[in-house]
Amino acid sequence: MHEDIERILVTEEELSAIAKKLGEQITRDFAGKKLLVIGVLKGSIYFLTDLSRYIDLPCTIDFIQASSYGSGTVSSNNIKIIKDVADDLTGFDVLLVEDILDTGRTLKHIVDMLSNRNANSISIITLLDKPARRVADISADYVGVDVPNEFVVGYGLDYDQFYRNLPYIGVLKEEIYNS
Ligand code: IMP
Ligand code: MG
Repeated sequence: MHEDIERILVTEEELSAIAKKLGEQITRDFAGKKLLVIGVLKGSIYFLTDLSRYIDLPCTIDFIQASSYGSGTVSSNNIKIIKDVADDLTGFDVLLVEDILDTGRTLKHIVDMLSNRNANSISIITLLDKPARRVADISADYVGVDVPNEFVVGYGLDYDQFYRNLPYIGVLKEEIYNS
């Protein structure tokens, strides 16, 4: 597994520092609110589990899943919701947790869909941001770290469903997806 990685972009130590810093920031920003943390499956699971342990507030946790990439490395315009959350989000301040904001199409679709469910607010936190690739009109309220325009895997992020369990974020060797 490690031999398929060109170089490490974000180390384990850096990942846990990011979770701590952002978790503490969310604790301050959402104090007194009815927080609903929604992880976008599957890529966000490692970040969500680490981040949420630094959110020192009562909160509930749910998941949403949109149609995935398939085995390619670019997202399509055709996004489907495979697993949804409650129809009524009245009273909740929603925090959407993503692994990476790339073109932004997936998250834009999710935010638009959740926008008419009466939530008090909808905020976005993403571990990684690839601003160079943005197509949809969307940005995150909280960003762990910006990454260059390269295909990355690990700590939840996959290529063709593999590599999620790498403990760091690394750039996948091009020969893996170009062969
Ligand atoms: P978007 O709709 O183009 O913003 O893509 C969103 C989803 O594509 C992310 O939540 C990831 O699951 C996946 N994705 C985008 N870039 C990468 C990458 O570099 N590595 C792994 N998955 C990625
Ligand atoms: Mg994702």
